[in-house]
Amino acid sequence: MENNIKEKVVVITGASSGFGKISAEHLSTLGATVVLGARSTDKIEKISEEINSKGGKSLAVTTDVTKVEQVKNLVDSAINKFGKIDVLLNNAGLMPLSPLEYLKVEDWNRCIDVNIKGVLYGIAAVLPYMKEQKFGQIISVSSVAGHTIRPGGAIYSASKYAVRVISEALRQEVKPYNIRTAVISPGAVETNLPNSVTATDISKNIHEYYSKHAISVDSFARCLEFIINQPEDMDVNEILFRPTIQQL
Ligand SMILES: NC(=O)c1ccc[n+]([C@@H]2O[C@H](COP(=O)([O-])OP(=O)(O)OC[C@H]3O[C@@H](n4cnc5c(N)ncnc54)[C@H](OP(=O)(O)O)[C@@H]3O)[C@@H](O)[C@H]2O)c1
Repeated sequence: MENNIKEKVVVITGASSGFGKISAEHLSTLGATVVLGARSTDKIEKISEEINSKGGKSLAVTTDVTKVEQVKNLVDSAINKFGKIDVLLNNAGLMPLSPLEYLKVEDWNRCIDVNIKGVLYGIAAVLPYMKEQKFGQIISVSSVAGHTIRPGGAIYSASKYAVRVISEALRQEVKPYNIRTAVISPGAVETNLPNSVTATDISKNIHEYYSKHAISVDSFARCLEFIINQPEDMDVNEILFRPTIQQL
């Protein structure tokens, strides 16, 4: 099969850990140039150095996705250094699960700021470039929780439903510019995500659930590869996957 990933410039938010890190590493082995954004400068610089030392091309740009100007700077840095942007992976996110009655208002705000506004800021940063280029893929990470609602998941699910709504509206709107959009909705996968649960009792349950159910992070990288590797006339819009043993 043709390699449509080689030479592509891929900007990744939340690239210091989990899905973002594996995506940068995996796409780089397939010949992509990767631009890593996250708040943990030391971590993204180390990942970038390792990629470059293996002959890959990458750049690390400290980015907090809740700051619109930092997300713009991430994308502008990719353009300035590499001249184009083929793919934005809107991946940064957290999962501060808790029942509404716990009144974790700070968690609610953070979840909305990172999971929804961060995605919007990513779209705002790449759209002017992609419209002018007349190509590009905007891939955003939702969740199985963006398809189902369970107690304790109100705000997280709301944020992940929002990602799907935004991506579908975007898909319809950007047709004239040859821009493609996709959502990946994973189930439980082994990353640091459970650490973003701040409620002690819920955290314990989630860590137990993940230790029994979660599958390898490679699963995400394989889905991402599939989406980016399609020829330009094919627009894969959604992949939903979960561990075989995960019921809901
Ligand atoms: N793992 C799963 O089971 C699963 C399932 C469904 C959906 N997801 C989604 O997958 C995405 C990636 O999560 P993960 O599982 O890979 O978890 P992870 O290992 O905890 O990684 C989260 C990433 O998001 C970044 N991040 C958090 N706040 C940020 C901010 N304000 N600005 C920039 N980056 C920020 C973190 O980097 P810094 O802390 O360095 O900023 C980190 O790189 C999330 O959207 C999550 O909701 C995960």
